[in-house]
Amino acid sequence: TKQTGHTSLDYGFVNTAATRSAITYIDGDQGILRYRGYPIEQIAKHSTYLEVAWLLLYGDLPTADELADFDDRIRRHTLLHEDLKRFFSSLPHTAHPMSVLSAATAALSTYYEDQSDPNNPEHVELNTIRLLAKLPVIAAYAHKKSVGQAFLYPDNSLSFVDNFLRLNFGVLAENYEVNPVVSRALERLLILHEDHEQNASTSTVRLVGSTGANQFSSISAGINALYGPLHGGANEAVLDMLARIRDSGESVERFVARVKNKEDGVKLMGFGHRVYKNYDPRAKLVKESADEVLNELGVVDPLLDLAKELEEIALSDDYFRERRLYPNVDFYTGVIYKAMGFPTRMFTPLFAIGRLPGWLAHWREMQNDPQTKIGRPQQLYIGSAERDYPTS
Ligand code: SDX
Repeated sequence: TKQTGHTSLDYGFVNTAATRSAITYIDGDQGILRYRGYPIEQIAKHSTYLEVAWLLLYGDLPTADELADFDDRIRRHTLLHEDLKRFFSSLPHTAHPMSVLSAATAALSTYYEDQSDPNNPEHVELNTIRLLAKLPVIAAYAHKKSVGQAFLYPDNSLSFVDNFLRLNFGVLAENYEVNPVVSRALERLLILHEDHEQNASTSTVRLVGSTGANQFSSISAGINALYGPLHGGANEAVLDMLARIRDSGESVERFVARVKNKEDGVKLMGFGHRVYKNYDPRAKLVKESADEVLNELGVVDPLLDLAKELEEIALSDDYFRERRLYPNVDFYTGVIYKAMGFPTRMFTPLFAIGRLPGWLAHWREMQNDPQTKIGRPQQLYIGSAERDYPTS
């Protein structure tokens, strides 16, 4: 423009130095997602959360002994420092679990400051284990806090997922029986969230880590980025959207018309993606799980039918087709989490637990990449040209 001398052409091209990574491959047009070369469809069907975490962190699938040792080390780090448990009592019971998760993760840092040197491989290894072990416990305590129930201690005789389920749904007065259907479905959902290339929260973890900040501070920053409703917070926003349609009595067609007219900025939450301009392969797998889990749990949720009706109408509408808007990973996950018994505000913390191995893998890859400088995105200046301060 005339003030800055830039031409409109300048605005058409934003120079983004692509980040180099060997962890996850996405082809947005083909709807392809691979973790270290393995297709997500095979991984989700055959693997486990911890096996995939190892794959993302170290580049190959672990041997049986490596996985057993990894699992054992994580089990032995599930306890939180007793002082940290008092941290929760300082928060209001209305606190959103994502706020609690990011605050408590940053607070974890204060217990390990003398063991958090990003350049010390032993510290990096130990804090990776600590975060994988303790983040689920912190999330479960945020859930218990919100429902006014006593915190349980982890039971390390249980698997990673079963320990987490018991911390959320077990109560002191009774034994807790893990439902194998819920356990298997949650394992699969966590796997589907473990990494996704340079999404906003992973880029945040890399950027914060590039300044030399430790893993706790970097992960806490990633949790904050994930909280936003356009990112990880979308799974909570989808359920709220479906419930509002149901409770308002508004027809799906009328709601879709409001989205197309952009009335009050309303969006079809759980639809659209920065990269996928085709069906998100994870959404396809989650949708399959939704029917299976709700049937096996004997749960009938009209919100699932409403979601399917919304998807059918949107996918047959030119407005969404022209903009290449398809369901993303967040569109159906909430219905399953709800059927498992999680409150809506626990959905994004579940996303965070899923994404933690990816965040940690990217943090480590960035630390070991000689090209990595302190993250500083380039800028196109579009402000005022030089001018003198009025002295008259
Ligand atoms: C996640 O990056 C990742 O990998 C993220 C993630 C991961 O695993 O980490 O996959 C997880 O964050 C998935 C996304 C969850 N967010 C939502 O579901 C929120 C709703 N979706 C949108 O806000 C949006 O689709 C984004 C932000 C996700 C992506 O935006 P795009 O693809 O860059 O699209 P855009 O903002 O440039 O919009 C293009 C057009 C616009 O219309 P026009 O101005 O051209 O008329 O599409 C419209 C937008 O208004 N549009 C939507 C829409 N998303 C885009 N219209 C209605 N509903 C939507 N959801």
